[in-house]
Amino acid sequence: MFYSQAKVIAGGLVHIPIVISVFYLIMTFFNKRAIKFEEANKSKKTEAKVVESKTDPKQAASKPTKKKHADVPVNIYRPKTPFEGTVTGNYSLLKEGAIGRVNHITFDLKESDPFLNYVEGQSIGIMPVGEDANGKPHKLRLYSIASTRHGDDFEGNTVSLCVRQLQYEKDGETINGVCSTYLCDIKPGDKVKITGPVGKEMLLPDEEDANIVMLATGTGIAPMRAYLRRMFEATEKEKNKWNFKGKAWLFMGAPKSANLLYEEDLQRYLENYPENFKYTKAISREQQNTKGGRMYIQDRVLESANEIFNMIEDEKTHIYLCGLKGMEPGIDEAMTKAAEEKGLNWSELRPQLKKAGRWHVETY
Ligand code: FAD
Ligand code: A2P
Repeated sequence: MFYSQAKVIAGGLVHIPIVISVFYLIMTFFNKRAIKFEEANKSKKTEAKVVESKTDPKQAASKPTKKKHADVPVNIYRPKTPFEGTVTGNYSLLKEGAIGRVNHITFDLKESDPFLNYVEGQSIGIMPVGEDANGKPHKLRLYSIASTRHGDDFEGNTVSLCVRQLQYEKDGETINGVCSTYLCDIKPGDKVKITGPVGKEMLLPDEEDANIVMLATGTGIAPMRAYLRRMFEATEKEKNKWNFKGKAWLFMGAPKSANLLYEEDLQRYLENYPENFKYTKAISREQQNTKGGRMYIQDRVLESANEIFNMIEDEKTHIYLCGLKGMEPGIDEAMTKAAEEKGLNWSELRPQLKKAGRWHVETY
């Protein structure tokens, strides 16, 4: 009896290592699967990281234009709730003997919350103090931004404008424009009501090998100054990491040499980037066109018709017009003649350029 009981117990004990071995095998099998699963997951995460880092600004440039522009800030501040910016600088851009008054004015945006950010080619609104003839607060006036998004001091907290004081004669009296006079007279420390930013017409393309032809009269140079700083100003380039490799050609119209704006900077860019920057001036009251009249930028465009149209044939070329509304018919006329010389039809070509987002106009 005792013997048979001992036999059963011994038999049971013999099974213990078998049970343990089976259990061990099962555990090992599930552990291996778990490790494999983790590894697979890890590699998926790494892939995701690679994909993330692939969507850098260069890649974004190949995305459709509409989507790209959706990121551009607009109307962060509106007339009912403007931001009060502090003036940090206001100085004349003109040399002795110049006509009129044109100032470079900078505002501090640091205190804005939400932050009033902007990109090159946009405008801001300025609300002058005081009331109009009907006793209503003055309406805002738009001004093209003359600084890059990093500001003139590269800190990213300011916005600068290039403002001409409007002055005209009426019934023997000199009339001063409301907002332009207000802006030319403001002093550092003054608070100014700012709205915006607005505008998507004058944005620069993202492509570093784009060609940029700029046609500016007077303060129409404001957005162009921002573009050129983005392209050629050393500290700005360090900040923006945009390595411009194309050709930039500025046609600038001014009444006198003393009225040329940002001239020293432009000469510096010419020296530093002779392969990338070209600068053609039309100084209306010192130079004459072939007909003996005032030299305007459209006359300069005609002189360089061939070269300009060669550039336009390249789909990486964008053309920007800014300044006096009055220059538009003249530019159109010059482009028509220039196109004819190349056997092209400007009235057909211009809408095509516009549709392709390569013809940018902001005149006032
Ligand atoms: P106002 O007091 O408003 O006077 C203008 C009015 O005076 C005109 O509407 C007209 O009725 C009258 N007037 C003007 N000239 C004459 C004349 N010769 N004879 C009789 N009546 C006349 N300006 C800049 O200086 N720099 C810029 O960068 C700039 N960017 C702009 C960007 C955009 C998108 C726009 C739309 C305009 C821009 N302007 C710019 C123009 C600016 O907005 C103002 O229109 C300009 O400063 C004049 O405003 P003001 O308040 O001084 O003149
Ligand atoms: P002008 O005034 O001699 O006729 P600013 O804004 O500093 O006055 O500069 C504007 C420049 O544009 C001036 O040289 C001016 O010449 C010139 N300009 C005036 N009207 C036109 C026009 N219709 N087309 C092109 N340029 C023009």
